[in-house]
Amino acid sequence: MAGRGRLFGLGVGPGDPELITVKALRLLRAAPVVAYLVAKGKKGNAFGIIEGHLRDDHVLLPLVFPVTTESLPPPHSYEREIAAFYDEAAKEVSTHLDAGRDVAVICEGDPFFYGSFMYLHDRLAERYDTEVVPGVCSIVAGAAVLGTPLVYRNQSLLVLSGVLPEPELEMRLAQADAAAVMKLGANFEKVRRVVMKLGLAERALYIERATMANERTLPLAAVDPSSVPYFAMILVPGKRWQG
Ligand SMILES: C[S@@+](CC[C@H](N)C(=O)[O-])C[C@H]1O[C@@H](n2cnc3c(N)ncnc32)[C@H](O)[C@@H]1O
Repeated sequence: MAGRGRLFGLGVGPGDPELITVKALRLLRAAPVVAYLVAKGKKGNAFGIIEGHLRDDHVLLPLVFPVTTESLPPPHSYEREIAAFYDEAAKEVSTHLDAGRDVAVICEGDPFFYGSFMYLHDRLAERYDTEVVPGVCSIVAGAAVLGTPLVYRNQSLLVLSGVLPEPELEMRLAQADAAAVMKLGANFEKVRRVVMKLGLAERALYIERATMANERTLPLAAVDPSSVPYFAMILVPGKRWQG
């Protein structure tokens, strides 16, 4: 790997620029190239978090997603299109690495927790020196903003994707001591139905864009499903233990 650049996967936290770690900030400032995954026409959440820390001579490498939804009409296949996109994105990153330039890939929250960086890591980590810097994950950020402890004593926390089919969500959530349901957006109404059906409405808390400037918390019943962003979650904290 001599002469090659190093690959960094930097967790930049859930939104508040002060929640980036000292280490991630140091490595970001030192890397000549900053890469970030972003939807077409958007600035990118992770980019917005670190924007104020960029140097004038940073080379920016936006990697623009070709699709914004997992449900594509035939003959398109989300899996095929997204895999081809990550192959191409990994090639773009490797061009810089082969030229000896370090590349910092920034990632909202933590890179290895549903982070898009994982797919670049899978393609590149065996070929290049790679370091991953953990970040403050949105679940703990959400709990902090909501002021709710998540799990007491021996309780277990279940993390669910809101994309799951309704019966599966119901079956899993019914058994949870405490839970976080991610990836809401268009999945919100389905998840809320399950929460209500299981009698968890009293305990369930809704938060969107935790720690960002436009953060919002609302009672679950008051949420308008048509306005739920992707950066939203429902937390069901564990029952309080009177220790
Ligand atoms: C692709 S995952 C990324 C998770 C991220 N890597 C982390 O460590 O938190 C995106 C999901 O995380 C949740 N999320 C991320 N940031 C959030 C925030 N600031 N507030 C609320 N939910 C957030 C949302 O449920 C969103 O759909």
